[in-house]
Amino acid sequence: MSVVVVISGRGSNLRAIADAGIPIAAVISNEANAPGLAIAAERGIASRVVAHRAHASRESFDAALAAEIDRHAPRLVALAGFMRILTPGFVARYAGKMVNVHPSLLPAFTGLDTHARALAAGVKLHGCTVHFVTAELDHGPIIAQAAVPVRDGDTAERLAARVLRQEHAIYPRAIRWFLDGKLVVAGGLVRVKGNDAQVSYSDVD
Ligand code: GRF
Repeated sequence: MSVVVVISGRGSNLRAIADAGIPIAAVISNEANAPGLAIAAERGIASRVVAHRAHASRESFDAALAAEIDRHAPRLVALAGFMRILTPGFVARYAGKMVNVHPSLLPAFTGLDTHARALAAGVKLHGCTVHFVTAELDHGPIIAQAAVPVRDGDTAERLAARVLRQEHAIYPRAIRWFLDGKLVVAGGLVRVKGNDAQVSYSDVD
């Protein structure tokens, strides 16, 4: 009983999760050419492509994705750079057992282009969030957040790299908490039994 990681692209969070020793049953990508599939292959992790383009509707794609996930009977589904909107039915199926990493300090900057939007807004703190997935995009209960400074002269790329480093730190940690049964969710809020490190700050580039 372990984790199924669902990706669309680069797979650097997948790599961080694998490198942290999290047991990964399988990697599933909706893109056949996702570089992250090579990361799975290098590590001998089973992978499968479920191509959204082969499906006429979101419901049909989500049913195929769920069937592939359920073959592994995972304890947790970890979305890691997965770029598809999920149907309410799919989200409900994995309620309380599906997490995501988002490149902003939620609830600020839900959606795409978070780093450019953070720069445009002039925020001085930016970061990333690991959260449970609920029907409303990027709004589920927050498990962990890491903040980074926004520096003078930052580009979206530089800021993204600073944030990504923190994603790689907090996502495996949050998954470990889940697998260790340490997460307590009540009233939409998450606490970690015996641990108060749900927030971190790093100014390391
Ligand atoms: C990350 O920034 C993640 O927060 C966002 O998509 C990006 C995925 O990167 N959801 P990678 O594929 O894990 O390298």
